[in-house]
Amino acid sequence: MRLTVIGCGYVGLVTGACLAAAGHEVHCTDIDEKRIEQLKAGKVPIYEEHLDEVLKRAAAEKKIFYTSDAGEAIRSGEVIFICVGTPPKETGEADLSAIDHVARQIAREARTPKLVVEKSTVPALTGVQLQKALGAYSRDGAVKFEVASNPEFLREGTAVGDFFHPDRIVVGVENEKSATVMREIYNPILQRKFHCPVHAGKCPNGAPGELLVTTINSAELIKHASNSFLALKISYANVISDLCERIGADVEEVTRAMGLDPRIGTQFLKAGLGFGGFCFPKDIQAFIHLSSSMGVEFDMLKAAERVNKQRIDRFFEKIHKALWVIKGKKVAVLGLAFKANTDDIRFAPALDVIRRLLDEGAEVHATDPEAISRTKPLLPAVKYHEDPYQALKGVDAALVCTEWQIFRNLDWEKAGRTMARRLVIDGRNLYSPRKMQELGFDYHSFGRLNR
Ligand code: UDX
Repeated sequence: MRLTVIGCGYVGLVTGACLAAAGHEVHCTDIDEKRIEQLKAGKVPIYEEHLDEVLKRAAAEKKIFYTSDAGEAIRSGEVIFICVGTPPKETGEADLSAIDHVARQIAREARTPKLVVEKSTVPALTGVQLQKALGAYSRDGAVKFEVASNPEFLREGTAVGDFFHPDRIVVGVENEKSATVMREIYNPILQRKFHCPVHAGKCPNGAPGELLVTTINSAELIKHASNSFLALKISYANVISDLCERIGADVEEVTRAMGLDPRIGTQFLKAGLGFGGFCFPKDIQAFIHLSSSMGVEFDMLKAAERVNKQRIDRFFEKIHKALWVIKGKKVAVLGLAFKANTDDIRFAPALDVIRRLLDEGAEVHATDPEAISRTKPLLPAVKYHEDPYQALKGVDAALVCTEWQIFRNLDWEKAGRTMARRLVIDGRNLYSPRKMQELGFDYHSFGRLNR
């Protein structure tokens, strides 16, 4: 099938690349002309595991094309995936101006009927507005548009694997015809008819994900309801962690036992600095806003958001207690990205930590395997090091902000020899408190017993 992808951010590129790998012909466009030129030249503008090899293969097989001419891209596809950003406004409400802009563009440029699919995360009832806009701006109503919602459940860092091996594919449609088209698009994924870069073509057996056909309103709600629930789970674990510290219990023992109940599940119960990234913080805000506008006060989400913001305060309580005065101290920050395996620093807790350290007069040395170049322009006062051991040289404290594997594997004996003081405050609970103490470190983490 011929598909159009509007918006070449991580969701658009992963969607385009994986659907091309599934045998479709994909036409990608973006208002950022530089990005399109980069993509044409075979350069992937974001760090996402396996994405460049899937894009390379698709380009070689002439399955993926890039153009900065949106009209050309729109006319090339039968189905159009909208993958543009929906950032939060000051109020927390999702800013849908990019969706609105694209809707008008599609209405103006299309010459044949199109199925327009919302892939970007949008609040419920956006589909209704999208349908209205497509109708209102359509050239004398000659072209017919159908709308569908197909939310993504792609985790940054594992997005390609998530796309090829989904737990579920949700398609919100208005009629059976659109459902059939969406099934046709996703059948090669469900039937594993693609070259999987994650498993080198040998995917483990196991049931493929389920394709769920719902109404558009339900599909939109599923996305926000899922992400907000996961955010809620993390904040819940963080409150338990605070309680463990007061009571003298160990959060990892508690959450592991909780998680073994299949109704709870072990994932997303990791205590620490809390959630960041461009999904959870904005989705939870948009969901609170949407609920409130519908007359439903989602207080538990407000609490989850508050708990998450307070994680930075908790971290600083630990820093103040262990380091005492911050002013004039040399501090290493391990990790800038909001989580491991991505270069994304949007709403990254590490950046809030650094801003506060700088405000309090610390000299900050930061390291991250992927996110340094993105952070530099935002925080020029920081000294950056590719090598974590260089970042740790002569520092009074090391603060762990991202759970990168290379930080897990650090040789602390070696690092400790060059640090001014053996103090580690771990915002991601990466190390064994006992082992760190054996190495002579004053070690602090979240909610764990020091043994
Ligand atoms: C999320 C959803 O998982 C995905 O389905 C959705 O479509 C997009 O949003 P992502 O933002 O890539 O994906 O990150 P995710 O892996 O879900 O982690 C979010 C944040 O929560 C990270 O900052 C992570 O460090 C934090 N987290 C996660 C915890 O603090 N504790 C946990 O137990 C799990």
